[in-house]
Amino acid sequence: MPEPQQHYAQHIAELQRRYDQALTACGYDRLIIAAGHPHPVFQDDQHLPYKANPWLLQWGPLTEHPGSVLLVSPGQTPRLLVHAPTDYWYRVPAVPDLLNSGGLDIELHANPESIAKAVGDTGRSTAFIGEILSKADGFGSKAVNPPELLQLLEEDRTVKTAWEIANIRAASSIAVRGHLAARECFMGGGSEYEIQLAFRAACGSTDAEMPYPAIVALNEHGATLHYQRLDRDRGQNLSLLIDAGHAVNGYAADITRTYSDDAEFGSIIEAMHELQRSLCEAAQSGVDYRELHHAAHHALTSLLCEIEVINAQPEAATEAGLSRTFFPHGLGHFLGLQVHDVGALYTRRDPNEEAPPEEDKYLRLTRKLAPGNVITCEPGIYFIDSLLAELRDKPGAAMVNWSRVEQLRPFGGIRIEDNLHITADGNENMTRAAFAELDR
Ligand code: GLY
Ligand code: MN
Ligand code: MN
Repeated sequence: MPEPQQHYAQHIAELQRRYDQALTACGYDRLIIAAGHPHPVFQDDQHLPYKANPWLLQWGPLTEHPGSVLLVSPGQTPRLLVHAPTDYWYRVPAVPDLLNSGGLDIELHANPESIAKAVGDTGRSTAFIGEILSKADGFGSKAVNPPELLQLLEEDRTVKTAWEIANIRAASSIAVRGHLAARECFMGGGSEYEIQLAFRAACGSTDAEMPYPAIVALNEHGATLHYQRLDRDRGQNLSLLIDAGHAVNGYAADITRTYSDDAEFGSIIEAMHELQRSLCEAAQSGVDYRELHHAAHHALTSLLCEIEVINAQPEAATEAGLSRTFFPHGLGHFLGLQVHDVGALYTRRDPNEEAPPEEDKYLRLTRKLAPGNVITCEPGIYFIDSLLAELRDKPGAAMVNWSRVEQLRPFGGIRIEDNLHITADGNENMTRAAFAELDR
């Protein structure tokens, strides 16, 4: 059986164990997980692309069946009620074969009324996890997205099963094919639009298999962290920052590379690779991710001094907080069914979870790493006009070599992002493993 399918039945058994425990702890005897529905477009008769509830996707890749429902009760086989209408407007896909191998009871239902009937009465002891777009969506449950239950399940979700790891590994491998094609297109003078097409063609991804819109930024556009426009015009290709992934069975890879054939900027990119690799190596079980984020700021400050963007001793530059102008985002986040997997939400929900430090409010992971976590490590340096303008009015401005900044500004920025699976004795860098295998 190919990876990751061989791990699926075991994954379902583990989910049953986790959900049984969480439901019992919270006093629920049943949970409804609703796939959700496509969002309507305002004043239109169209819908936005459908994205399934990640809590349902965790049980299997039911990415194309809005209106479906999973019923989970402690000690019982979960029941998957698949919404499979007769429809001549849209294709109604078959239930993926894989789901039949997971030991779920699967029923097909032709309409929402039939699903509501199968769900039956919901009292106080039935919890519901999903989005409520219209009143009927909650099946009358009085416990809609109960925070104490979500908190337990989110904690569980930070530890990935072998099935989940295998999916992210597979997604990484496909995404790296795309990155290699994008690099080639960039080197051949392609526009942002063409580079994005090269990425998509090499991955063979549909829109639904893109875990987030690809960021394809040439030259100074690399200074916009989530740059979204895809310019069609060709020009001089100084640098490319591409942050693009692919999803397999709903699980995402989130990979960034930066390229340039300018010798000097290329050497700065190489230095960033070295810096990023050593941060990746330090991402070990038991390490507090906030410490790693601070280590990234220290290392980036030293690099900014080495490349003469900062004309000061690293200690003085650190004291002045200069690196925050050039690295204004968090070092990384959990990765899984969502690109920013439960981490960001988790931080807000759990009173015991440390909030991000005041000066690093965009840090989305603020805890010690544990085996089974999948995280990103994505340090960057950018030349962002608005942040540089702010810095000019601060005392630290005197330490900045502004002519060097002007010289590097046309290159936009550098981000190197890998996906790491934290293990008991280190980590597996799924991104670099895929590049090592495919970049020959
Ligand atoms: N692709 C978005 C991120 O790196 O977090
Ligand atoms: Mn990321
Ligand atoms: Mn990314």
